[in-house]
Amino acid sequence: MRTLITGGAGFIGSHLCERFLAEGHAVVCVDNFITGRPGNIHHLVEHPKFRVIVHDVSKPLYVDGLLDNVLHFASPASPVDYQKSPIQTLKVGSLGTHVTLGIAKAHGARYLIASTSEVYGDPEVHPQTEAYWGNVNPVGERSMYDESKRFAEAMTVAYHREHGVNTHIVRIFNTFGERMRLDDGRVLPNFVGQAFRGEPLTVYGDGSQTRSFCYVSDLVDGIYRLLNSDYHLPVNLGNPAEMTILEFAEEILRLTGSHSRIVYKPLPADDPRQRKPDISLAKRLLGWEPKVSREEGLRRTIEHYKRKLAAK
Ligand SMILES: NC(=O)c1ccc[n+]([C@@H]2O[C@H](COP(=O)([O-])OP(=O)(O)OC[C@H]3O[C@@H](n4cnc5c(N)ncnc54)[C@H](O)[C@@H]3O)[C@@H](O)[C@H]2O)c1
Repeated sequence: MRTLITGGAGFIGSHLCERFLAEGHAVVCVDNFITGRPGNIHHLVEHPKFRVIVHDVSKPLYVDGLLDNVLHFASPASPVDYQKSPIQTLKVGSLGTHVTLGIAKAHGARYLIASTSEVYGDPEVHPQTEAYWGNVNPVGERSMYDESKRFAEAMTVAYHREHGVNTHIVRIFNTFGERMRLDDGRVLPNFVGQAFRGEPLTVYGDGSQTRSFCYVSDLVDGIYRLLNSDYHLPVNLGNPAEMTILEFAEEILRLTGSHSRIVYKPLPADDPRQRKPDISLAKRLLGWEPKVSREEGLRRTIEHYKRKLAAK
């Protein structure tokens, strides 16, 4: 088996590369390193079945040889990253999805696109099921990301319906783990970085907004199962254990042993009030549910950051 993974040098992409190599696949990683890091795949480059193509996947790409699977994970993913590069984000969700669907069609490969819980916007339905169509501001400060993913889903189902491509759509809810950049602006690396530096932890709003955090190995397992299923409509993957951001800040303080204070800043525009996946479909369809508790995942992630900082 040979698998193409775009965004393979990113946080989730690098874990996917590892998993597919472990399953015996040859892996072609395509990345332009806009938010990914060579260090994320450094340990894989000597692997005889691993190949890296440095390329912007919003531009045409020809891949020689057979391909069995195409996974499109390239996209800036944190609000700091996508708000810094709004046009690149829209392009990789639209043109990049078109390019990668074309590759899957040409090779007769299975296809899987990384969509997001952000397609639900600031949800009026809680928890979010796949049947909910969302509440997204098309011109808001997060629209470059949310709308590019909504377009990507539409393009993916169109390729399935018009060309019969064997497509899959995963709606990923907040995922965390080793190799998230400490400076990527997402809540977990923000809190951990601040806790390590002894700085106050910044909570936006009053901290009552909720999130649910899934450990990366669980997500990767769900993606692997979904790719090998015969289901073509979107599937939520995430951990339904919901907590407030304030509770999360307190958990990070406890697990890092930090005595930092918590400070409050105004809530950014269009920040979702609540986030919790309904994973009944994934349970029924894939026999999947998260296995690693949030606390265990956080311990592993914090240890990873400690080792990285100690090695500097
Ligand atoms: N991490 C999460 O919690 C989460 C939640 C929902 C969806 N997702 C989706 O999962 C995917 C991976 O997210 P991540 O958290 O690993 O982010 P990341 O920023 O760590 O990884 C994204 C990777 O894509 C690459 N990339 C971006 N644009 C590219 C382009 N035009 N051509 C080639 N490579 C490009 C980046 O360099 C990076 O290596 C994204 O599509 C994201 O939208 C992630």
